[in-house]
Amino acid sequence: MIKYIETSEERTSIARQILEALSDWFEVDESREKYITESAGQPFWASLEGDNVEGFLCLNETGKKTMELAVMGVRKECHRKGIGRRLFAAAKDYATRKGYDFIQVKTVRSGVYPDYDITNEFYKSLGFKEFEVLPDYWDEANHCQIYVMALKSTLNTISTRHSYRGTFLQESVPEEDLKAIARAGIDAPSGCNKQTTDVIVVNDPEVLARLKAQIEPPVAKTAPAMIVVLTRRINAYRDKCFAVQDYSAAIENMLLAIVELGYQSCWYEGHITDDDRICDKIAAVLNVPGEYDVVCVLPVGKAADEIHAPGKKPFEERVHFNRWR
Ligand SMILES: Cc1cc2nc3c(=O)[nH]c(=O)nc-3n(C[C@H](O)[C@H](O)[C@H](O)COP(=O)(O)O)c2cc1C
Repeated sequence: MIKYIETSEERTSIARQILEALSDWFEVDESREKYITESAGQPFWASLEGDNVEGFLCLNETGKKTMELAVMGVRKECHRKGIGRRLFAAAKDYATRKGYDFIQVKTVRSGVYPDYDITNEFYKSLGFKEFEVLPDYWDEANHCQIYVMALKSTLNTISTRHSYRGTFLQESVPEEDLKAIARAGIDAPSGCNKQTTDVIVVNDPEVLARLKAQIEPPVAKTAPAMIVVLTRRINAYRDKCFAVQDYSAAIENMLLAIVELGYQSCWYEGHITDDDRICDKIAAVLNVPGEYDVVCVLPVGKAADEIHAPGKKPFEERVHFNRWR
């Protein structure tokens, strides 16, 4: 189990247990003690099996938009069980949600010590890219290899997006961000390029309050902004209408843009298009013309609560190569 460790006492105690057990990597007393002391104030995750600590990882902020994997260690007997990978996944999720752009890690470059060669391969397998070797950073015998990873790749944003239904921080969303999100929506593909999707960005507090008053039972009550998605159900060709596909592509683009910019959201469609037709009430508040239907609302704001990833079926159950099973 990967657990976020809250207290500085527990952090330093875990860091000490693990680093002292890994003398092949952390043999210099002074630097080991420094890692332990500094871990007290750093975001910190541990891998626990009952009462036994298998490993830990902590992050350090090196700039407004950059994090460093400050130190990680997994007991030697627990290697090759995916523990380091799971620790890093938790840390990467955290850094991404906090809006960091890059994560870096430093190690002794490959080709000097077999143990560090394994470390280098491990970082590369996580997706880190060789950034630079600094020969003088530590000393002559230990050239420092810096690895870097961009957190805002499309694939990373896709894997860190989850529906968020919690409370939002009471911070307004800058208009340039709302425009970037709306732009991502209208940049989506559409059948025969008919561009059947429009959006209404609602950030005026008075309009927002009137919109939210239509949503009963309420959702996203605390959202500082909402994007209302409209569709025009025209045919793309002959009797083929692709309006649903068009707005779905637009919504997914906007959800990804929202997460990439550090906000959270949820695709609220079922709730507002149900028999009580909240969508029509929203359309009336926003003066939506008759040829458009309101189909979805997307809250936009920074999360105040934890973000939960829902369970998904295993990859192998849903992805097939060349034939069905
Ligand atoms: C067409 C559609 C309609 C949805 N409507 C709602 C809704 O009305 N209320 C809600 O809480 N979530 C709604 N969702 C979000 C789904 O519940 C959510 O995507 C799903 O549980 C998977 O979770 P994830 O988005 O975190 O991967 C909707 C999603 C889609 C694609």
